[in-house]
Amino acid sequence: MNKRPLPIIVGNWKTTPATLAEALKFIKQLDAKCVASKKKLPKKAYYLAVPDIFIPFLADISKRGYIGSQNVSGVAPGQTTGATIPSQLVSGGADFTLIGHSEVRARGETAEDRSHKLALSLQGKMTTVLCVGEETRDKEGKYLGVLEADIKKSLSLVTRSLFENLIIAYEPVWAIGGKTAATPQECFEVVIALRRALANIAGIDYAKKVHVLYGGTVTEDNARTFIQDGGVDGLLIGRASQDVAAFSNIIKNCHGA
Ligand code: 13P
Repeated sequence: MNKRPLPIIVGNWKTTPATLAEALKFIKQLDAKCVASKKKLPKKAYYLAVPDIFIPFLADISKRGYIGSQNVSGVAPGQTTGATIPSQLVSGGADFTLIGHSEVRARGETAEDRSHKLALSLQGKMTTVLCVGEETRDKEGKYLGVLEADIKKSLSLVTRSLFENLIIAYEPVWAIGGKTAATPQECFEVVIALRRALANIAGIDYAKKVHVLYGGTVTEDNARTFIQDGGVDGLLIGRASQDVAAFSNIIKNCHGA
């Protein structure tokens, strides 16, 4: 397992901001806030998944965080138009990537696509955040079996030795982009189930150590509670990572939580 300072605070910029100038300004302000923090932060205190075109520029100026992508292509290198593969993202400055975000799934990504993306990205030694989460819950807890099957299928082309660079993000679809987050207790229960699923796939030692994040309506007010009571090692944050004041406050509040 790669040693990463905890908690792992990941922002997902989605299709914001509109321009590179705004993105550069954001990173400069965010780094300045990290430097000015009264709480001691690790040298790299955040991860930001940004639009691909911004990666080289932001990776060049970001001093206090990791810059990554929100998706990769899993196609074979060579003759495919309009696809960016992991090795290209890494050589352009990406430190990590998200894979399997529900908004990508909603646009047609299949389980097979995900398995190819994960294989290419982990073979390329890219830190890879696999997003999983149920659309709705049922009282019997069948959704937990669905999540387990999802992880298994997604990792079906990845050899066990490459799991070291994998991070799992639990993102219940019903909690993304809305007003209501999961409760830390709801999060905790799923994290246990995900670790159990990973134990079946990769063994108990791996399952105990793998880093799991929570995402879905994380705010300045609730961020710390997931780290303290939700059983996670970090957060995956949409809207609140697109506001420099909110994101820097979350980073500061969560370190040492
Ligand atoms: P929100 O934090 O805006 O709910 O988005 C979550 C998300 O999609 C992070 O990947």
